[in-house]
Amino acid sequence: MTPPTPLVDRWTSLSEWKDMSSLYKGIRPDLDRVEDRLESWSRSSNPLTAEISRYVLNRRGKRLRPALVLLTARLFSPGSEESVFLASLVELLHTASLIHDDIVDNASFRRGRESVHAKWGPNITVLLGDYLYIKSIGLSLQSRHERVIRLLTEVSARMIEGELDEYARAGDPLITEAQYLEIVRNKTAALFGACCRIGAILGLASPEEEEAVAAYGLNLGLAFQIEDDLLDFTGDPAALGKPVLSDLGEGRVTLPLIHALGRVDRAGQRRLAGLVGRKDAPAAERRDLVGALAAAGSFDYAAGRAREFAERSLEALAPFADTATKETLIRLAVFSLLRRQ
Ligand code: IPE
Ligand code: IPE
Ligand code: MG
Ligand code: MG
Repeated sequence: MTPPTPLVDRWTSLSEWKDMSSLYKGIRPDLDRVEDRLESWSRSSNPLTAEISRYVLNRRGKRLRPALVLLTARLFSPGSEESVFLASLVELLHTASLIHDDIVDNASFRRGRESVHAKWGPNITVLLGDYLYIKSIGLSLQSRHERVIRLLTEVSARMIEGELDEYARAGDPLITEAQYLEIVRNKTAALFGACCRIGAILGLASPEEEEAVAAYGLNLGLAFQIEDDLLDFTGDPAALGKPVLSDLGEGRVTLPLIHALGRVDRAGQRRLAGLVGRKDAPAAERRDLVGALAAAGSFDYAAGRAREFAERSLEALAPFADTATKETLIRLAVFSLLRRQ
């Protein structure tokens, strides 16, 4: 008996899905209102706070997390003011996390321009990140749903714990795939899952439906971050709007490298491990490393793992009726695998 075609394969033939603009068609008006909210939250009587807040909030990223809140809420009921509010809130939280992340990772570029710490220095950046974090939690108190408030508070702590664990493990070539995945689950996937759970709570979904959309989000988040780590080796910095080959220099041992370290001989392991955390590694050595990882099948392996999680995310949507909203959620999962940005 031939095994069933994996769900992802059924959706990947349409190459225009590498592009985001068509994905958001159905929620464009709501996403425009998200932009209005973010603009209003960037206002402050303090000129510096207002300037930096505008700098980070007006520069659009992919707006994936707001899209997840809006789309999952629509699986259950028509769009609402509260879904726009919470969609904006998760983007505020995400933005705060990126501001701190770029200090931790010494990253000078974000969304195609200077990161906040590159422009204003680390001290102001820590404070601005704190400000946006606490502002998002303060705003969450306006939600009518106590569970949403608790969820946002918990997920903020989990993201920071993920970042802490990742930093603490930097430079460790013995990190296992399971440990790597636990970090990814906390720093990235938990927020994707929370965005979807929030949509379900707003839509008054049943407990089973809520678990299903949360599983979709969590698995999508795992696929997304694995792909992100892969793009750090293979991506185009102009399309990504952030530097590539940066994880290695910062000592981040991500899935392609974990795979390669388990495949090559002792001499190869020493050579690869010697490059971890070396910011001054010459370009030729980095190129050799990329070649060695490709030869060890490590990029294919990581891409395959991302696909498996995307596949699981699509499986989680199986109980829902085939609507345009569900199709967009499926397309988002496929996008996370095919993306260049
Ligand atoms: C960046 O997230 C952080 C990761 C989880 C990899 P995005 O890639 O969604 O960033 P923006 O919001 O589009 O800039
Ligand atoms: C994502 O981690 C940051 C958060 C989830 C807070 P990374 O450090 O891997 O993401 P990029 O590459 O800077 O976007
Ligand atoms: Mg980073
Ligand atoms: Mg990081």
